[in-house]
Amino acid sequence: MSANSPAAVVVLAAGEGTRMKSATPKVLHEICGRSLIGHVLEAAYALSPERLVTVVGFAREKVVAHLGTIAPDVRTAYQSEQKGTGHAVRIGLEELGGAVDGTVIVVCGDTPLLTGATLRKLAETHTGDGNAVTVLTAEVPDATGYGRIVRDGESGAVTAIVEHKDATEAQRAIREINSGVFAFDGQLLAKALGKVRTDNSQGEEYLTDVLGILREAGHRVGAAVTGDHEEIAGINNRVQLAEARRTLNDRLLTGAMLAGVTVVDPASTWIDATVTYEQDALVHPGTQLHGATHLGEGAEVGPNTRLTNTRVGAGARVDNTVAYDSEVGEQASVGPFAYLRPGTRLGLKAKAGTFVEMKNSNIGEGTKVPHLSYVGDATIGDFTNIGAASVFVNYDGEAKHHTTVGSHCKTGSDNMFVAPVTVGDGAYTAAGSVITKDVPAGSLAVARGQQRNIEGWVARKRPGSAAARAAEASSGKPGNPAGGS
Ligand code: UD1
Ligand code: MG
Repeated sequence: MSANSPAAVVVLAAGEGTRMKSATPKVLHEICGRSLIGHVLEAAYALSPERLVTVVGFAREKVVAHLGTIAPDVRTAYQSEQKGTGHAVRIGLEELGGAVDGTVIVVCGDTPLLTGATLRKLAETHTGDGNAVTVLTAEVPDATGYGRIVRDGESGAVTAIVEHKDATEAQRAIREINSGVFAFDGQLLAKALGKVRTDNSQGEEYLTDVLGILREAGHRVGAAVTGDHEEIAGINNRVQLAEARRTLNDRLLTGAMLAGVTVVDPASTWIDATVTYEQDALVHPGTQLHGATHLGEGAEVGPNTRLTNTRVGAGARVDNTVAYDSEVGEQASVGPFAYLRPGTRLGLKAKAGTFVEMKNSNIGEGTKVPHLSYVGDATIGDFTNIGAASVFVNYDGEAKHHTTVGSHCKTGSDNMFVAPVTVGDGAYTAAGSVITKDVPAGSLAVARGQQRNIEGWVARKRPGSAAARAAEASSGKPGNPAGGS
């Protein structure tokens, strides 16, 4: 908490968001890995406010439950009927015990692009100019739907905010709009809210009227104009949701590139606000990085890769892969076409190759699972090679069981490891084996039927067939086993 921290932040999130046409309340829709309100809270917390209250109303249970997961200590106030933004702030202040000494910042829960830096500038302008209220404004290309900032013709001072629905034709031509973000003197705000009326086109208590009320009472009213109008965009429908996602994604990728990450195709790369990276990471087209994903130095991911909560070690290579809650060791190699499910941990220089699925498994240093395999609930030691097309048979229809394979093992292709089972260090298994019993260290396990050749069978049983002719013609040719007729 710094000397400039506001006394309180009030987040307005009681509205339904009808235009989203959704069973999910508007502020819970997500962009770049966070809910809309999650982004707003992130910006608000950057101010280190002494207190923060979120006003909830529509689908209150869902919103409160969500807030409990992202900001457990946040206070909520319940606005049972949405009687306007002024009414909502009143409810919020009541939760804080009434009028507040110091600066109160009001933000809406549906402006996810707002940054802490812009809020800080607003707060600075507000205290610096000694205002009773300071509104954050911007010039926008299309002001439809927004409250217009009315300024005095001579002094240029802000005189009022007029809602779109209540505006005259001349006022509708104004392109400077109310962002819905304000800094108030807490005591004056509480007094003015008591005077807000409902004689407008929507029959609501408009927070915006506080500005005119304070001005008329002789207080200083100001505006902080932001140059970036995209930052204050309020989301009302899913078109705006997609636009905001694109804008935020661009902002996040720009941050990554300036920090030394190569992004081959920003247009097809999607990154959450929570993703972290080190320099010289390289991201190929068609890649989506979600949650707590981390790219180590020089790691190379993509193309066409989706990583969620996955740590990719320095110098690792992840190609055409889907991974959740996994760890890829330094210089390890994953894919192309791998699926790592929760709890997969690949050690240094380990490999999960092509058409390989893994879950809840520890793969040791230098160990390779190169082709067409499923590894579930397993621990594999170091420098072991698992043959192509192997399955760790972990499920007996009722419970999952664990398989342990030691270090420096060579297991044959097309093996089934029927868990629970253990293969000792340095052991080999024969191709096509179904391993149901523990294999002692250093031994070879063979668990398959013996091969039996029935000579002349084709000539006897399929006389005159192409196979019989081929066999006949081959007899005696070099490189062909004897037999045939
Ligand atoms: C509001 C402003 C408008 C501004 C625009 C910016 C008013 C009267 N108008 O209009 O000047 O240009 O935002 O996006 O303030 N809310 C509640 N309780 C209520 C009503 C609203 O919590 O009773 C919340 C909503 O959930 C939303 C925010 O307040 O987060 C703004 O409400 P909304 O209905 O979107 O207002 P706008 O018509 O967009
Ligand atoms: Mg709105």
